[in-house]
Amino acid sequence: MTGFASPAARAAFIAGLPKAELHLHVEGSLEPEMLFALAQRNGVAIPFASVEAVRAAYEFGNLQDFLDIYYQGMAVLRTEADFHDLAAAYLARAEADNVRHVEIFFDPQGHTERGVAFETVIAGITRALDAAAARGLSSRLILCFLRHLSEADAEATLDAALPWRHRIAAVGLDSSELGHPPAKFARVFARARSLGFKLVAHAGEEGPPAYVEEALDILGVDRIDHGNRALEDPALVARLASSGMCLTVCPLSNLKLCVVDDLAAHPLRAMLAQGLMATVNSDDPAYFGGYVNANFVAVADVLDLDRAALLTLARNSFRGAFLAEDERERHLAAIEAYDRATG
Ligand code: ADE
Ligand code: ZN
Repeated sequence: MTGFASPAARAAFIAGLPKAELHLHVEGSLEPEMLFALAQRNGVAIPFASVEAVRAAYEFGNLQDFLDIYYQGMAVLRTEADFHDLAAAYLARAEADNVRHVEIFFDPQGHTERGVAFETVIAGITRALDAAAARGLSSRLILCFLRHLSEADAEATLDAALPWRHRIAAVGLDSSELGHPPAKFARVFARARSLGFKLVAHAGEEGPPAYVEEALDILGVDRIDHGNRALEDPALVARLASSGMCLTVCPLSNLKLCVVDDLAAHPLRAMLAQGLMATVNSDDPAYFGGYVNANFVAVADVLDLDRAALLTLARNSFRGAFLAEDERERHLAAIEAYDRATG
C-alpha cells in the first residue's frame, strides 16, 4: 500500500516536501551545456564535438570510470566567475526542488593541481552561496580531500583553506575509494577536528565495511557518505543505527556507477527498516541523470516508498545536517506542517 493514488501523486508529494541536500559535489553539477559554454569562454579544448556526445560518454562501469571523466570536465573551470556560475546554477536547481538547506562538497585539489588558486575557487562558490542565502536557501561548505593523493597533499590543502575557515563547515574524503582507506588520512582529519571542522567521509560506496569502521574509529566522522556496503556487516549496521549516524545515500549515483545492478535492488528501504538514518541525495547530478527530487522519485517508485518513509527521509536530511538547533527545529516543523497540510 503506497498511500498515493498514482506515481504522479507521489512525485507531487516529493516536489513539495521541504528537504536538505547533504551530498552534492559542486563540480558534479557541471551540466554539458555549461561545460561547452565555459570551454568556449576560457579557450579550453574538450574532447567532445557536441552536448549529445558528452551525454553519450556518461556510461560508467564503476567509480573510476566516472572519476576519469569528472576530473577531465573540471578543466573548463578557471576563473572566479566560472565557480560562481557553476554553484549558482546548482543552487537554482536545488531551490526548484524545494531544497531548503544544502551542504556542498568541493574538490580544491582538482583545481589547485591545474594552477587555479584555492582563493579563486572558494571566492566564486561563496559568492553564489551568499546570494542564495539572501533568498532563503542556507548552506554549508565541505572541503573534500582527494583520497588518491597523499596525506601530505591533503595537509597542504588544509593549510590553504585556513584563511577561509570561517566559510568551511567540514572536511570530507572523496575520489577513488578502493586502495585508499580512511586510515591513510588519520593525521589530517585529527588536525581538522582540532581546528573545529566537522568531519565526513565517503565510505562503503565501493569499499568494504571495514572502511566504514575506519571512518568511524580512526577519523571520527560525523556522517558517512554512501555507506551502502555497511549492510554486509550486521554488527556495523546495529552500531550505525544505535548511534544515529547519518548516511548520505545517492540512489541514481549508485545505479550509474554500478554499486547496484538495478534500482529495484537498492538498499534504501532495507536501511530504513534497520533503523539507519538514511538521506537521499544527488551526488553528481549532471553525470548521474537527476537532481535530488529525481533521486527521490526514482527510488520511491521502484521501492514503493510510502508517505511515512518519504517524511522520514526528509526529517533525516535536517537531523543529519550541520545546522544550529533552532534552525533544525524550524525545518522539522515545516515538515510536520507539510504532513498535516497534505495528509
Ligand atoms: N567525487 C565525486 N563524486 C564521487 C563519488 N560518488 N565517490 C567518490 N568520489 C567522488
Ligand atoms: Zn559523492
